[in-house]
Amino acid sequence: MKHLIIIGASGSIGMGVAPTLEESYVIHRLSRKDTTPSIDFTKQDQDLTKLPKGPFDGIIFAQGINPQYSPFDTYGEHASNMWQVNIEGPTRFLASIKPRLNPGACIVFFSSVAKIKGSFDPHYAAVKSAIPGYLTSMARHFPEARFNTISLGLVKGSRVQAGMTEDFLARHRDNMFGNRLISFGTIARAIRFLVDSPELHLSDLKVDGGVTGTF
Ligand SMILES: NC(=O)c1ccc[n+]([C@@H]2O[C@H](COP(=O)([O-])OP(=O)(O)OC[C@H]3O[C@@H](n4cnc5c(N)ncnc54)[C@H](OP(=O)(O)O)[C@@H]3O)[C@@H](O)[C@H]2O)c1
Repeated sequence: MKHLIIIGASGSIGMGVAPTLEESYVIHRLSRKDTTPSIDFTKQDQDLTKLPKGPFDGIIFAQGINPQYSPFDTYGEHASNMWQVNIEGPTRFLASIKPRLNPGACIVFFSSVAKIKGSFDPHYAAVKSAIPGYLTSMARHFPEARFNTISLGLVKGSRVQAGMTEDFLARHRDNMFGNRLISFGTIARAIRFLVDSPELHLSDLKVDGGVTGTF
């Protein structure tokens, strides 16, 4: 069986997809709390020497910070946290785990419809838009690995959905095919498709109900 790591395993998507993925793979869950090691990408001095042994056939980067601040809010370290959690932390993690990646290992990042429609929170949209160029660059340094993106529309049952006003939720639904939000089952199938398709590299799977414009 292939071995996969899920980072952000305590999050909505991490918890939502892990049981399905466990039917096909050995899953190693890593979170900010209660796992060894715990992974907090805002901390520079993380001890990544205690990573599970491996080797690994995939890493699912399901960590993230949800959109929160407009440019007019007092947003403190939010912008740098966004960068650390989405880009810098994963870079350090991948550098540490490189010797334990099997040939053809599939690295999955989550981007968002924010790169098409924008976001209330420009820092969120900026890091999600950065992912394709970031992954193409990482691929130069990790010729043994495949880097792929799943670009998501609003996910049913996620924390971000729970925090939305009815009005904003309706705007998402109105722009998605059949007024359906994305299910954890569909995300798990998308991950399996990427992990088990050895030709897929630098692909960007649009799993967003067909959102095309800004709203
Ligand atoms: N949900 C959606 O509708 C949607 C849509 C488009 C894209 N996405 C993307 O999908 C990914 C997962 O989203 P989600 O809905 O599962 O989010 P979520 O429910 O908010 O979970 C986020 C996860 O990231 C972890 N995390 C937060 N700060 C961290 C840090 N400093 N270091 C390491 N981990 C940290 C959280 O840990 P704690 O449990 O300790 O807080 C949690 O495990 C994100 O990249 C998000 O941008 C989601």
